[in-house]
Amino acid sequence: MRFSRQAAVAVCGAVAFLAAACGSSSSGSGSSGGSAGGGSKSVEVFTWWADGGEKAGLDGLVGVFNTACTGDKFVNGAVAGGAGANAKQVLASRLQQGDPPDTFQAHAGAELSDYINAGQIEDLSAEYKEWGLDTAFPKGLLDNISVGGKIYSVPANIHRANVLWSNKTVVSGAGITTAPTTMADFLADLDKLKAKGVQTPLALGKDWTQEMLFEAVLISDLGPAQFTGLWNGTTDWKGAAVTQGINDYKKLLSYTNSDRDTYDWTDAEKLIMEGKAGYQLMGDWEAADLDTKGFKDYGYQVFPGNGNTYQWLADSFVLPKGAKNADGTKCWLKTVGSADGQKAFNTKKGSIPARTDASPADYPAYQQAAMADWKVDTAVPSCPHGSACSQGWQGAVASAQGKFSTDQNVSALQSSLAAAAAQFAPKK
Ligand code: GAL
Repeated sequence: MRFSRQAAVAVCGAVAFLAAACGSSSSGSGSSGGSAGGGSKSVEVFTWWADGGEKAGLDGLVGVFNTACTGDKFVNGAVAGGAGANAKQVLASRLQQGDPPDTFQAHAGAELSDYINAGQIEDLSAEYKEWGLDTAFPKGLLDNISVGGKIYSVPANIHRANVLWSNKTVVSGAGITTAPTTMADFLADLDKLKAKGVQTPLALGKDWTQEMLFEAVLISDLGPAQFTGLWNGTTDWKGAAVTQGINDYKKLLSYTNSDRDTYDWTDAEKLIMEGKAGYQLMGDWEAADLDTKGFKDYGYQVFPGNGNTYQWLADSFVLPKGAKNADGTKCWLKTVGSADGQKAFNTKKGSIPARTDASPADYPAYQQAAMADWKVDTAVPSCPHGSACSQGWQGAVASAQGKFSTDQNVSALQSSLAAAAAQFAPKK
């Protein structure tokens, strides 16, 4: 099944992103050599990929690392919890105590800049040259992992956030035969599910997952250019289009499970798998997770009204200052950036490779569709997944969303979001 498409409004396309214009980038290349020094030294790899499709992706990467870096031993430092909800706190305290893991997962964009600005990670520009990574990644991605001409991480992938997943049997059982392409269509379909007695027309989880749903609604209501402007200070959070977005999002909340605030994304996904829900908005790690769990009856489409907008984020790995086994970490990073590493990881993770030289035929159907869209779509960033906003801003937005989930006070949410932007948006 291909993503639904609408007429293209070229603003800052994924193509332009690949070529440079949107500001973000990265690279990677051939397979790794062993770390200097030999022996069996451990490399602690810190992520939040503890289970399901996320762990399957990590395992793929580890397989390539074990072959390429024979002098080093992978040590799994994963801390469970979607979007790093728990891992980022543990990491912050370890970095503060001067006890960094050998490498950790960080999102390209503003989130990575937090670590760069805090002086916590090393410049990898020399390694990029040595490993031939400077030409392997799109220029736009490289810009998102660089500051002052220095490159600070190795991207593993590009994920898409604005995907609507469905239980095909549940949806067709309610008489829904075509994919909804507008918010009005979507609301009508949710009503059909409700009328059919489906317990949860739209499955939802806690704060950061609510933020994702809200952002998808904002993309529909503002369009990609104005949506991107929310994060770079050129769109006013107090504007009427944002009010409209909050009201539309509030309508959607009425179709969701009332215990959403206690759910991680996988709990909401379970409602889809069990046939208790029709739809769920989630990033494309869900494709890998459903595949790993053996659930085949799922559909996917871009969120209604998002047209040809690709909301991107990228996982990348870094060399922290003070890493105990810097040579082993470099071998891990070289693996992450290599063609073999990207294939082993992304075929299992639901994401597409950050490298530009991958062959779509090597990938499952979902990723093939995503790769085709990525070439032509308009790229916009994500706040909860770090491409749009810093960790401080992420925290402020997540707590505002959590509060709205309870009080549903539209003007209070808009004021909190405007205050967060005033505090954290880059100054023009
Ligand atoms: C994102 C991360 C993805 C996936 C997801 C759910 O922040 O970039 O790789 O792990 O969280 O946990």
